[in-house]
Amino acid sequence: MAYTHEDCLRARQDFPALRRAPHLAYLDGPAGSQVPRAVVEAIADVYASCNVNTRGNFAPSREVDRRLDAARGAVAAFLGAESGACISFGQNMTTLNFALSAAIGRTLHKGDEVLITQLDHEANRGPWIGLEERGVVVREVRVLESGELDYADMAARISPRTKLFALGASANSLGTVNDLALARRLTHEVGALLVIDAVHYAPHFPIDVQALGADFLLCSAYKFYGPHGGVLYSRPGALDRLPTDRLSTQDPEAPFRIETGTLNHAAIHGVRAAIEYLASWGRGASLRERLIDAFSGISEYEHGLARYYHEAVERIRGIRVWGPGFATRVRAPTVSVTLANCGAAEAATRLGEHGICVWDGNFYAARAVEVLGVAERGGLLRTGISMYSSREEIDRLLEGLGEIAANRVNIAMRG
Ligand SMILES: Cc1ncc(COP(=O)(O)O)c(C=O)c1O
Repeated sequence: MAYTHEDCLRARQDFPALRRAPHLAYLDGPAGSQVPRAVVEAIADVYASCNVNTRGNFAPSREVDRRLDAARGAVAAFLGAESGACISFGQNMTTLNFALSAAIGRTLHKGDEVLITQLDHEANRGPWIGLEERGVVVREVRVLESGELDYADMAARISPRTKLFALGASANSLGTVNDLALARRLTHEVGALLVIDAVHYAPHFPIDVQALGADFLLCSAYKFYGPHGGVLYSRPGALDRLPTDRLSTQDPEAPFRIETGTLNHAAIHGVRAAIEYLASWGRGASLRERLIDAFSGISEYEHGLARYYHEAVERIRGIRVWGPGFATRVRAPTVSVTLANCGAAEAATRLGEHGICVWDGNFYAARAVEVLGVAERGGLLRTGISMYSSREEIDRLLEGLGEIAANRVNIAMRG
């Protein structure tokens, strides 16, 4: 379904934070999005109606069980998973990935290899690098200056010793969308697991874990208009065999096998509300169909706005745009720049003083920022387009950047 500028203006009315402070341009979506009222209400409703623990033999407990099951079902529809039994919840993506890497690490032997990339967020590098303590060899796929992975290097580094490839679907630093089909083909050839970090991808594109052939995929609801909370998809059978950290009293079946302690029931119910909110922008008989339809419009809208920004910001003298272009490739609506006369932190601070919320630094994609050679200048200035981002906000950003870039006095870099 088409998603137009008018739809964006309508959507903005659904977000309490945007109504409350219309002068703030939230272009910080890659670090976390705002939430629609339906999500706020869903979270509050858990506290108001079934704020009890799970698996009890009384009505409010049965209700919270029902809501958790429904949330797993909604996330399964969101990811194209086989069923809700493939969906585990956790505090955030990083915590889930540490739990996953610890469990998988116990199945690996000295000399086994794990492949990561230079482009990924540390949350999909650090947990795997930690396995070096067990004698696992961790290799890295190179990132090119274009912001894309070096696919020849990827192919060269995968060998029969490779047991796992941890790869991002999209880069939160540059908006690059990686070739997941190639990664799956190469890992299949050697029988390696594929772990996909879809945190930056999930707010912008529909996901089909079965088509991707992912063994594990992680994302974070607070990036797609939901509350803070992480999601792990495990291919049927993949989690049941893993020696996860868990209590003897804990349910050993998937999806519970990796879920330690009491979950954040209210937030999980809010995740379902966020997915249903997204689906409300599409048509179709099932939740999945509505989501796919909604994403077709939202993705195109976001892409168009990001492309508009990309083309305009590239024309500003003294600004360098990083990451892949918009001409041919699929890419996320996230655009990062550096300014010749001003560090990223200073530029973000000045824009922030005018109500423009953009991030500066490395956004935990520290390796990519280091390899691109921009770390010592304070990293990148990143703009993220969300479903509620408007053309007016981008024009304000462009105007602000134009003024900063035209400033003849060299501005001292902070931080
Ligand atoms: C691409 C990517 N992966 C992983 C993470 C970590 O997610 P979480 O904050 O849920 O641990 C982020 C957060 O910014 C991210 O952008």
